[in-house]
Amino acid sequence: MVKEKISSALKGINGTVIIPGDKSVSHRSVLFASIAEGTSVIRGFLKGQDCLSTISCMKQMGVEIEETNDTITVHGKGFAGLKEPERVLDVGNSGTTIRLLSGLLSGTAFYSVLEGDDSIAKRPMSRVTVPLRQMGAKIEGRENGNLTPLSIRGSKLTGIEYDSPVASAQVKSAVLLAGLNAKGTTRVKEPSVSRDHTERMLSAFGVDVYQDQINGIAEVTGGSVLKARNVQIPGDISSAAFFLAAAAITPHSALELKNVGVNPTRTGILDVLEQMGADITVFNERTETGEPVADIRVCCSELKGTEVGGALIPRLIDEIPAIAVIATQAEGTTIIKDAAELKVKETNRIDTMVNQLKKLGADIEATDDGMIIHGKTPLIGGEVSSYHDHRVGMSLALCGLIAKEEVVVHDAQAVDVSYPGFFEELNRLK
Ligand code: S3P
Repeated sequence: MVKEKISSALKGINGTVIIPGDKSVSHRSVLFASIAEGTSVIRGFLKGQDCLSTISCMKQMGVEIEETNDTITVHGKGFAGLKEPERVLDVGNSGTTIRLLSGLLSGTAFYSVLEGDDSIAKRPMSRVTVPLRQMGAKIEGRENGNLTPLSIRGSKLTGIEYDSPVASAQVKSAVLLAGLNAKGTTRVKEPSVSRDHTERMLSAFGVDVYQDQINGIAEVTGGSVLKARNVQIPGDISSAAFFLAAAAITPHSALELKNVGVNPTRTGILDVLEQMGADITVFNERTETGEPVADIRVCCSELKGTEVGGALIPRLIDEIPAIAVIATQAEGTTIIKDAAELKVKETNRIDTMVNQLKKLGADIEATDDGMIIHGKTPLIGGEVSSYHDHRVGMSLALCGLIAKEEVVVHDAQAVDVSYPGFFEELNRLK
């Protein structure tokens, strides 16, 4: 178990950060290139543990994948080219891997079993197994298909119109991926729009995807063939969020973040920071493989509390731990609501963030669907834990930059899931 000590940044944090590849887009690039026909070269791939789990699962299904320092080359042989894995597919800590693969594997001609770590073993899978069964999938798991291990006997699928109770890109993507191999069309409607990387990347691989984001609808037709192509992965705004937060709350800070994906389904954090009065400039906007990308400048400024809820939540769901830290340094009250989904992430992020931030002196309370934070509170420092949750670990580390005493983050190695080298980068900027 690794622990990291973060001491205050009296001169602020300053400089330039090249943001590592987007986790969601990296997963999809390998999955889609694996079922495409031909060779795809992927640049900017995130070599975090989650995405490496996706690579290892696809390799176990016979896909030839070459890894060099800066490229991943995938030799796809089409969906029919996948082979039955001889062993259990291990997804590690990755919810995206298990949920997207469930959709993909449901329509194969073979048998497969998926499982992951202790956190995955507690996370709800019925959100994907219920719609997949409606399509004809033969999928089983503990508690009638809600918990891992999941075993899937590939079968013939039929398209459905699925009215999802949650705004979840993992659910939407699982159903759409099953829909690629189902009879007829498959439509997913969600209560508000979740990240649309699957839709964008399927289009880039030559699939016809119908989208109506005003009504939260995405649709594909079965039998679509994916054509190999090269992919440039944008930087992950969810990783950038920790540096946006760090600079926004640490006096004398000015950072330039390079290569940040600014897909509108992911930029809720920028909207919230602006609402709070942060000093942020987005510039140099461009498009890479169908995804908008930009550079972002952020400086420390006076912040005020705000309310975060409704359709904004899916656009910043992974950034809420960092927002909680920012809110401790904002004048007034911040209310985060409609965010019960936080309870089924890598940890229950309402409980872990509230309990750990309290230890550091924050005035924060948990609610049924979020948290309430009163600011501005000087943080005192102390010992906290990531509870094996990468985003909790990185968020708590930020507190060390402004706390009176050192902050010690236990189980700090969890950050490797999405941001290997995070602590080195943070220290470099001091
Ligand atoms: C992801 C979707 C989100 C997000 C997760 C990655 C994806 O989960 O929290 O980190 O890549 O599709 P949900 O679909 O459960 O909201």
